[in-house]
This record gives sequence, structure tokens and C-alpha cells, in this order.
Amino acid sequence: MPPPARRRDRDERGPPAAPARILAGRAFLQGKLQTVEVAISEDGWILALGKHLTGARRHDVGQAVLLPAATDLHVHLREPGGPPGVESIASGTMQAALGGIALVGEMPNTQPPVTDVPSLEEKAARVPGRAAVDVLLYALARPSSRLPALAARAGAFKLFLSPTTGVPDPPDGRDIPSVLAELARLGLPVSVHAEDPTRFARSRPALDPVGWNAERPPAAEEAAIERLLPAPPPLRLHVAHVTTPASVARLRGAGVSFEATPHHLLLSDRSVRSAFAKVNPPLRAEADRRGLWEAFARGEVPVLASDHAPHLAADKDRPFEGAPSGVPGVETMLPLLFARVRSSELALPVLLAAACDRPARWFGQPHGRIAPGHRAHLLVVDFRQRTRVAARRLHGPCGWTPFEGHEAIFPREVYFRGEPVVTAGEFVGEVRGEVVRPEFAGAPSDLPTA
Ligand code: DOR
Ligand code: ZN
Repeated sequence: MPPPARRRDRDERGPPAAPARILAGRAFLQGKLQTVEVAISEDGWILALGKHLTGARRHDVGQAVLLPAATDLHVHLREPGGPPGVESIASGTMQAALGGIALVGEMPNTQPPVTDVPSLEEKAARVPGRAAVDVLLYALARPSSRLPALAARAGAFKLFLSPTTGVPDPPDGRDIPSVLAELARLGLPVSVHAEDPTRFARSRPALDPVGWNAERPPAAEEAAIERLLPAPPPLRLHVAHVTTPASVARLRGAGVSFEATPHHLLLSDRSVRSAFAKVNPPLRAEADRRGLWEAFARGEVPVLASDHAPHLAADKDRPFEGAPSGVPGVETMLPLLFARVRSSELALPVLLAAACDRPARWFGQPHGRIAPGHRAHLLVVDFRQRTRVAARRLHGPCGWTPFEGHEAIFPREVYFRGEPVVTAGEFVGEVRGEVVRPEFAGAPSDLPTA
């Protein structure tokens, strides 16, 4: 496993390196768009910002804007052990790049689940030469796992409190405090799938997303969040896919990070009336969806993450009860929300804090901002290039999207470590993603909360 990424501090560099490339135009700096030139080193770091930089090829982005690329804390790339023809590290990271994401957090509910060092090493070996963006690997936190050995190699832990795809046996609720206490000592970020299965309704099987919301109700999420709080102080705790304004209100100010997904922000339990919209936690009633969106737009949700779960269309196209849970979304996450910026429903600084800055800091990575010493993972976005999401134009093997027809703005160009990997909306780059591990500059309590 490679050592953690090292931030390039000015005094480490010796004499100033000559830039290999200069990008010029309006860029998102310190909370607003400003006209600037960005000098990028040969090895893909932002060297300097200035007005009249020289010494390298200069590319002016014109009417478009330069933004930091995003980090997606939550994807399921299904490798190893996924069904034939489903997602892979190669296909999922290419979709990430096309959607403006430079780092994904890969979840451990693959087959076999990542519960020990050999399974972690096996997955890590699949990244070099195949991943288009960087990958941080989660290990599964189970009471029976040897957590210190995993912590020495993994990038983060995932704790499922309820059964879900590939994880049929969540820990007994009574074991959770001791697992959290041990994770707090180990120092890595911990993401929790917070649904309390003792609160699931069992009266009649769900036949559609409205029934699924009744079966795994908001009360199950709220009860699971209560089990987690107060978090043991040094724990870097992050609650995955929060779905209601009540959960946001409970978590704000509790010293924990949390995320919302595009599907819970943009779709209700009546948006798509089939098993294609079956997901854990479920899509919620419109009032909850709207409340979650309003909290997000006010900047009260620290992180945006996709929970990309790309089940094949053939597997989703089944009677509701037997269909798997999960929706794809890594390629569309930022483009959907860029369209909401364009329509003035969302402020650009709110989006970039949630999609770029906070998740990169959460993973202890030196990017997510356009500033010297940060990685040159950058997007060129032309907010006039509005389009509509169409599964046939997306790049994943799953072959469908729950956002068909939604307005979106895809990045025109994407730079990964200073090199163009996406041009005119198509993947053209080399595949240079690596496994990364956190490097934390601040104190453990320095959580990037909203
Ligand atoms: O709907 C879901 N799908 N929720 C999860 O927690 C897992 C995911 C998957 O891996 O398919
Ligand atoms: Zn997930």
C-alpha cells in the first residue's frame, strides 16, 4: 500500500519549479469567481496563482469557469466479485472523471467483503493502471474484525447498522458503542450507514417506493443516529446518506460530518414508481425531500456524495420485492447540481464546499481548492452548456439512470494531476489513478462540518 499523499509545502520545493502549464480565466478562489492564471507543475500540483504568469503553455478557458474537481466519499464499484458485466474499478472511475470527480471512496461491501488485510490488498492491487481517478478504500468495521491491522492499510472504515447489499449481518446494537470506541482510537474516518433495523415495519411487503419508505421509515434513520450520538470525541464520524430535515437538525452541531445524495435531494418516493427507485435508505415523501433540499441549499449539509450503486438494468427490472437496492449516480452528481446553480436554486460556494473542499479534507487529501500546494485536479465548466441526462449518453455498464431527463451541465474539460483527461465531455486521458490514504494536518477534532 503506498504512503499517504503528501501536501507540497512551499519550503519543501527548493527553488520554484517552472510551470508545465498555465490555465487562465475566471476561477473559483476564496469563495468567489475571480480572473486569474493558475500555474501547474510537471507533477500535477498548483504552483502559484497570478496575473501575468509566463514560462509555459497558456490555455484560456474563455467564457467557461475553472473549478476544483470533486471528491465522492461514497461509491460501490463492485470489484471484486460483482455480477458479470456490472461496474468495475476501471468503468466506475472513468464515469467519476467524466462527472468531475478526482477521488472516490470505494465501499467495502464487495465479494468477499473487505474485512481483512488480504482482501484489502487484493482490491488495492486492482487500482494501478486501471483507475482513472484516485481511490480511497474503505474496510468493513465488524466487531469480529481485527480493526488495528485494517487501520494500518485502509483509508477509512464503513459501519453498516442495517442489512444491505452484500452485508446481510449488521452488528448487534449492543456491540456498537465498543466498536465506535475502538474506531475512535484508530484515527481513520468512519462512515456509518444509519438505519436501525429494529424500527423497520414488517406488516406487508413493499410493492413500490412509497411502500419501501413505509417499511424502512425515517424513524429507523433517526433511531440509528441516536445510537451514534454523542460520538466518542476523537472519532472522525460521518453519517452516510441522510434523508430528512429532522436528521440534518439532529446532526448539525453534534461534531460529526454527514452527507446527502443527489437522489434523496432531487427524487421523492413518487418520482419513479418502480424498483428502479428502490434504494437504502429509501427515497422519502416530497415534504422530507423538499426539506432536505432546503437545508442543503442553506449550506447545512456538509457533504454531497453519490452512493453510486450501479445494479444492472436487467436486475432492477423485476418485481419490487426481489429487486436489489441502489441507484447509479457518480457521473451525474455534479452535473445535476451545476444545473441547479445555473437556475439559481443553489449557490456555487455552497455546492463546492459540499462536493470539493469538505470531502477532500475529510479524507485528508490536498485538493478541493484552487490554491498553491494543492493538487491540480480542475474542471472547466461552461454554465451555458445545459443538456438533459440520458442513459444512452452516460458511460456506465449499468445502462440506466434514475435522473433521465433532468437538466445537467457536464464539465467540458477535466484535469487530473494537471493533465487533461476529459476534453469536450469525452474521456481522452491516461489512466493514472492511485490508492490514497488520509493525511491529516489538523487535530482529530478538526471536522469539516457545515
Ligand atoms: O441502496 C443501497 N445500495 N444501499 C446500500 O447501502 C448499498 C447499496 C449497494 O451496494 O447496492
Ligand atoms: Zn452505499
